[in-house]
Amino acid sequence: MQNSIYNMFMKTVLITGANRGLGLGFTKVFLKQGYKVIASCRDPQSANDLISLSRVNPDLYLIKLDVASDSSIVRAVDAVEALELDTIDILINNVGVNSRTINPDADKSRKLIHLDRKVLGQMFDINAVAPILVVKEFLSFLKRSGRAVVVNVTSQRASFNDPEPSAEVNYGYCASKVALNMMVKELAKELAPLQIATFAVHPGSVLTEMNSKGVIAPEQAAENIAKIAEQIELAASGSFLNYDGELFPL
Ligand SMILES: NC(=O)c1ccc[n+]([C@@H]2O[C@H](COP(=O)([O-])OP(=O)(O)OC[C@H]3O[C@@H](n4cnc5c(N)ncnc54)[C@H](OP(=O)(O)O)[C@@H]3O)[C@@H](O)[C@H]2O)c1
Repeated sequence: MQNSIYNMFMKTVLITGANRGLGLGFTKVFLKQGYKVIASCRDPQSANDLISLSRVNPDLYLIKLDVASDSSIVRAVDAVEALELDTIDILINNVGVNSRTINPDADKSRKLIHLDRKVLGQMFDINAVAPILVVKEFLSFLKRSGRAVVVNVTSQRASFNDPEPSAEVNYGYCASKVALNMMVKELAKELAPLQIATFAVHPGSVLTEMNSKGVIAPEQAAENIAKIAEQIELAASGSFLNYDGELFPL
């Protein structure tokens, strides 16, 4: 299959944090849409859902990627090179951490009295810094696409005009997603001459481990965002969008 004519026309998507939640939703949706899917996660050997999917989907490739580690990102680039897929048409920076991910007793990492440099730094590192470094390392694959898109999963919590504001305090998550949005705005300037579009998108309230009160199924949320990725024009690059494709209030 590697070099068949059929394969030459298949697009490739790389997803971070593909083992569960929204990332797993993206994996299922893009497989259904006929993409070659590179599903990355911290521990592929224990990613049971991805392993099951890969048994029946020859176009699903599992690679190891911890976005918090520079050497892991570089090793992931080597792993993708070894797949000989040549291009990445869509890169999805899906990984994100919230207070509860860092400390199951969320109040411990949320409230002012408990804040510390380590927890805040970790949140900024994974939510805002890692996505841009992932793009940096995979840029050559994106360039070869001719019309690539980088999707960055942000949150409504990054808006000063959030239509559904939360009463709960969440310094690190909200501020790190604002930082991500600004990274995306700046990234768009450098990617435009390379014919690569990028945007930040709020996925809605999605039922995952991060959000046990979510109302949208991960696959539905992934489908909404996949539609935006396929339609986005370079002129709209750098925007903060809602999952329906409309601009999110800043
Ligand atoms: N759910 C919602 O309602 C909602 C709303 C707004 C925005 N979002 C955003 O949507 C994205 C996905 O969230 P989710 O709800 O699917 O969260 P989730 O269920 O907590 O999943 C998070 C994913 O990120 C992975 N991850 C965490 N740290 C990582 C690292 N250092 N390297 C690689 N992978 C790492 C996790 O892998 P492990 O299994 O290895 O921990 C997991 O696959 C996030 O950016 C989140 O901020 C979600």
